[in-house]
Amino acid sequence: MTTVRDVRSMAGRDPITMLTAYDAPTAALVDAAGVDLILVGDSMGNATLGYDSTLPVTVDEMKSRTAAVSRATNDAVVVADMPFLSIGVDEAQSIEHCGRMLKEADADAVKLECGPHTVELTKRLAQLGIPVMAHLGLTPQQVKQTGYLRQGTSKEEAQEILDLARAHEEAGAFSLVLEHVPANLAAQVTDALTIPTIGIGAGGDCDGQVLVVNDVLGLGERVPPFAKQFGDVQSAMEEAIDGYVDAVESGEFPADEHSHVEADLDELY
Ligand code: KIV
Ligand code: NA
Repeated sequence: MTTVRDVRSMAGRDPITMLTAYDAPTAALVDAAGVDLILVGDSMGNATLGYDSTLPVTVDEMKSRTAAVSRATNDAVVVADMPFLSIGVDEAQSIEHCGRMLKEADADAVKLECGPHTVELTKRLAQLGIPVMAHLGLTPQQVKQTGYLRQGTSKEEAQEILDLARAHEEAGAFSLVLEHVPANLAAQVTDALTIPTIGIGAGGDCDGQVLVVNDVLGLGERVPPFAKQFGDVQSAMEEAIDGYVDAVESGEFPADEHSHVEADLDELY
């Protein structure tokens, strides 16, 4: 079983792999492939729940999906992503929401979209035994303020990200996701920290990489420019579903081998 300590110690040594999963069968496949961390991302809002942003995702939805992923995972570290406004409003409530992911959904860690307001919270969570993965750069829960634009492109913004990265490491985060930032900024942050950085749209110099599993599989429409599609699951699903519809309509399915043996019934009346 991989632990957050193992992940920490991979910084600068072995490339770290992380993928999202939102259900048991996908988690089982991702885990069997040897992926180090499975992120139950709030990207589930777009990827599986049909919303057009992550904002509507609730603590209960995250808990339910995290529990499903945890049940199907043997080796990987399972990280529950804390949804919009589940943290940051009130400290006690934030801790309770994060704690539920470990107590009730068997997560190994939580991920927080970070800013100046999450440094103290990260410290409290780490003290309480809740491992924190920090997330800086593009934080999609800020979409109404920032859009989905690349972050850290000016010197001031880049410095702010580096300062926040250091502050969260200091506060006890075990790793840091960097999303959609310039590659040279990600490289500098990676150099400055001892905890591993895990990049998405952040170049090749991070300690690890993360992608949304739907984008990797080729399932769904809007793929960000920095994602790479490694398969065409959508076509495979279309083919299977069309095949089923055609077979029922043509009477080909069910054939005898799919039907229960007929019972020895007397004539019914
Ligand atoms: O929700 C998510 O999938 C994420 C990753 C893209 C880092 O936050
Ligand atoms: Na997320």
